[in-house]
Amino acid sequence: MKNTLIAPSVLAADFANLQRDIEMVNASQADWFHIDIMDGVFVPNISFGMPVLEAITRHAKKTIDVHLMIVDPDRYIKTFAELGATNLTVHYEACTHLHRTLQAIKAEGMKAGIAINPHTNVSLLEDIINDTDLVCIMSVNPGFGGQSFIEKTYDKVKQLKEIITRNGASTLIEIDGGVTDKNAAQLAAAGADVLVAGNFVFRAEDPIATIENLKKLLS
Ligand code: DX5
Ligand code: ZN
Repeated sequence: MKNTLIAPSVLAADFANLQRDIEMVNASQADWFHIDIMDGVFVPNISFGMPVLEAITRHAKKTIDVHLMIVDPDRYIKTFAELGATNLTVHYEACTHLHRTLQAIKAEGMKAGIAINPHTNVSLLEDIINDTDLVCIMSVNPGFGGQSFIEKTYDKVKQLKEIITRNGASTLIEIDGGVTDKNAAQLAAAGADVLVAGNFVFRAEDPIATIENLKKLLS
């Protein structure tokens, strides 16, 4: 089977021990850091902003995968590039000129991603898929960690995979929300390339072993 990537979501870390939790991810088999930025407008929650991201990137030694849950993300593209983001993902539902936004992200040297809410049909991505490095399918309603996985996600992954193949695109499929050892293998089999996991990793008794087990399930 292909190598499915694991991206622990720092939102579920212990912010009073942030460096410790980042070093844990560095030392683990995890592939990326997933960073959730929320503005209290696009989603009903505020997570953290630039100073915290700056502190994270100072210690993180893996790909920095930033998920923006904010309105009008174009305002901050340059700032996230300067802060060390590798991937910058914006929400389909938050962008009026999505094509322009993706080009602006790439112009700053980052990979450009689109996240879609659970209600957004993947067919809407048909005309933009060749411009997109990553699609993040939300498998919970964005805004909070620790929610239950929405089962419809498996169908969405398969449909998106079909669109990517038909268009000859090399877009990665990322799944975000409620990922555990119960759904990881089925998601990978459906076509997912990257699995974000917040609570399942950081609230585990042994996060390093939990990540190792996830990787084992996916190999
Ligand atoms: C939700 C965030 C997720 C969240 C995932 O809005 O985008 O990345 O941190 O957390 P879990 O894995 O706990 O559902
Ligand atoms: Zn996220």
